[in-house]
Amino acid sequence: MTSMFRCYLVNEEKRGAIGKLSMTDLPAGEVLIRGRYSSLNYKDALAATGHPGVARQLPHIPGIDVAGYVEECTTGDFQPGEQVLVTGYELGAPRWGGWSEFVRVPAEWVVRVPPSLSLRDVMVLGTAGFTAAQGVGALRLHGITPEKGEILVTGASGGVGSIAVAILARLGYQVVAMTGKEAAQEKLVRWGASRVIGREQIHVAAEKPLLPTRWAGAIDTVGGQVLATVLKETAHRGCVATCGNVAGVELPLTVFPFILRGVKLDGIDSAMCPHPQRLEIWKRLAKEWLPADLDGFATEVGLAELSDYVEQILQGQIVGRIVVDLQG
Ligand SMILES: NC(=O)c1ccc[n+]([C@@H]2O[C@H](COP(=O)([O-])OP(=O)(O)OC[C@H]3O[C@@H](n4cnc5c(N)ncnc54)[C@H](OP(=O)(O)O)[C@@H]3O)[C@@H](O)[C@H]2O)c1
Repeated sequence: MTSMFRCYLVNEEKRGAIGKLSMTDLPAGEVLIRGRYSSLNYKDALAATGHPGVARQLPHIPGIDVAGYVEECTTGDFQPGEQVLVTGYELGAPRWGGWSEFVRVPAEWVVRVPPSLSLRDVMVLGTAGFTAAQGVGALRLHGITPEKGEILVTGASGGVGSIAVAILARLGYQVVAMTGKEAAQEKLVRWGASRVIGREQIHVAAEKPLLPTRWAGAIDTVGGQVLATVLKETAHRGCVATCGNVAGVELPLTVFPFILRGVKLDGIDSAMCPHPQRLEIWKRLAKEWLPADLDGFATEVGLAELSDYVEQILQGQIVGRIVVDLQG
């Protein structure tokens, strides 16, 4: 085995240089993985730009997702050569992450790649797909079946949003995709949206505690005023699953959507999803929840090209998913 490995390194002087580190620099852990693919998520862009809440210590290697081959496992849970993936936990934030040829992690973080999926497939899904699936699971748990009405997905052209649109469509829901990108409309329809609306069609009426109902449920990836408005527009006994904050962290709202309409707000924290639930979600993603034409969501880039895409995701410009070829 090589004694040095290549990675995307964030340090004081330079964000995003391709670094060469020694295997002895890797953090402790039971499973050593030879990474084949990773992905770009919004949180990775924060880590890549040295955001202190994510990359708590420099130097740092971002990457909250990785898929690759087991090189060594000291617990005997995994055999050398097995195809595995890791999403979330502390990978890439605050611990060194998946934008690296080698990753070392605790055995309890590791998931076997479902036999029907490739290493690349699981990284097209990655944390974004895993989070979208949890959002869909939350709607179903709260009884939001397809016949209840339209489901809104906000930030629909982004990583979580695009996969959420596709899973919901595959399960027979009528999906309304909200996007700020006119150019993404055609793709959103191809991915399963029954109609596409612009961000300006969510009318913030800050002074009103409730608004006429529009949605049986929603998967919100943006937060802030958008989430507050969507909750005010959600039908009686509806459910909104929320995961993101690109539009803001405040939630300016009264209790009325909850106490007069029985609306449920379900928070998604995919990083710390318990292991048994994690396995169940990957099982579903590999079968009945797998988006049609997964490849159509992916743009593949090498480690050296990632910095451009980091800028784009911070500006909300990415459509679909960025997959990182760790040998590229
Ligand atoms: N809680 C969790 O477990 C979890 C897991 C994964 C992600 N997240 C969070 O979920 C969010 C989305 O993550 P992602 O990886 O899917 O990011 P992404 O690919 O950048 O998608 C975010 C999308 O939100 C929309 N958007 C951007 N800025 C906006 C603004 N100011 N107002 C309204 N919409 C805006 C854009 O889509 P349109 O142009 O189509 O509107 C953008 O593509 C992030 O906040 C991320 O941290 C949380």
